[in-house]
Amino acid sequence: MDETLGGGATAVARAHSNIALVKYWGKRDAALNIPAVGSISVTLEALYTDTRVTFRPDLAHDEFWIDGSRSDATRVSRVLDLVRARVGHEQRVVVSSTNNFPTGAGLASSASGFAALAVAATGAAGLELTDRELSILARRGSGSAARSILGGFAEMHTGVAADGSDAYAEQLLGAADWPVSVTVAITERGEKSINSTVGMVESAATSPFYPTWLDSAAEDLSEMRAAIAARDFARLGQLSEYNCLKMHALMLTTRPALLYWNAATVAALHAVRGLRADGVPAYFTIDAGPQVKVLSLPADSAVVQATLALVPGVLEVRGSTLGPGAHRLA
Ligand code: DP6
Repeated sequence: MDETLGGGATAVARAHSNIALVKYWGKRDAALNIPAVGSISVTLEALYTDTRVTFRPDLAHDEFWIDGSRSDATRVSRVLDLVRARVGHEQRVVVSSTNNFPTGAGLASSASGFAALAVAATGAAGLELTDRELSILARRGSGSAARSILGGFAEMHTGVAADGSDAYAEQLLGAADWPVSVTVAITERGEKSINSTVGMVESAATSPFYPTWLDSAAEDLSEMRAAIAARDFARLGQLSEYNCLKMHALMLTTRPALLYWNAATVAALHAVRGLRADGVPAYFTIDAGPQVKVLSLPADSAVVQATLALVPGVLEVRGSTLGPGAHRLA
């Protein structure tokens, strides 16, 4: 058994999911998981992952449990290996995670999952890392997870360093600094067909729009930063829709095409545009899945939820405020 650590060292962490307003799609380094474009997101109070990490001197391999079922530990072990290298020992761990939302259905379970893992694993190992270091560690599991280390509004930097040491997320505004509501319309509960990691490599290799996507990212990021700094909700919303549809145009021009939407997804987009026509400032965004997330001001969240609940094919609607960064529960 490792002397410095001791068997059975445990930590529990909670990390909230996040939704990108300016999207990450594409990598500048696949091995180190460094994004090719920066991104800006909001962290969601209502959707989170709780993860317990326990060091176990008796195990030959890491064990990963998600919502009570044994899962493939390959990606989790990659992050754990970085933690082990830092503390200089080889002990394996049991990782046990629970999501309070459907896993793998485009609700960013990898974002909250790897952020919670980074905080719990380093906590159990007795490491005290800065948010920047935690964000870099979470990124190695999943790019979007780097942003879930922070609460409120967060920006992920792609950086320029070859080793990814400047590819991390930092907070732009705290959750309480600008209260915004997010309504999630769930239109499908199954696992999505093509995961983001595979999809974005295919887009980079085959979409004729990929160079334009890369070239236009800086402008969207600076405009979004300005909208957030000015608390300009209409500007934030319009830019979120534009950037989301630009990413989906890239996905649709990938070969074979990445079509993540179903009929209810499209119906929900029309419902959001209908709300705007009626004078309610509400704006949609969609990730690599069929769920629709709608941004609104808190005073309008009830009408947004009620409207989405009536859209044919919408199975469930969840409202959320902005949430905190990843943190220890024990
Ligand atoms: C569409 O973070 O899941 O949600 O780094 O390969 O794990 P990997 O990808 P992931 O991609 C997220 C893509 C997105 C947009 C976003 O969250 O910015």
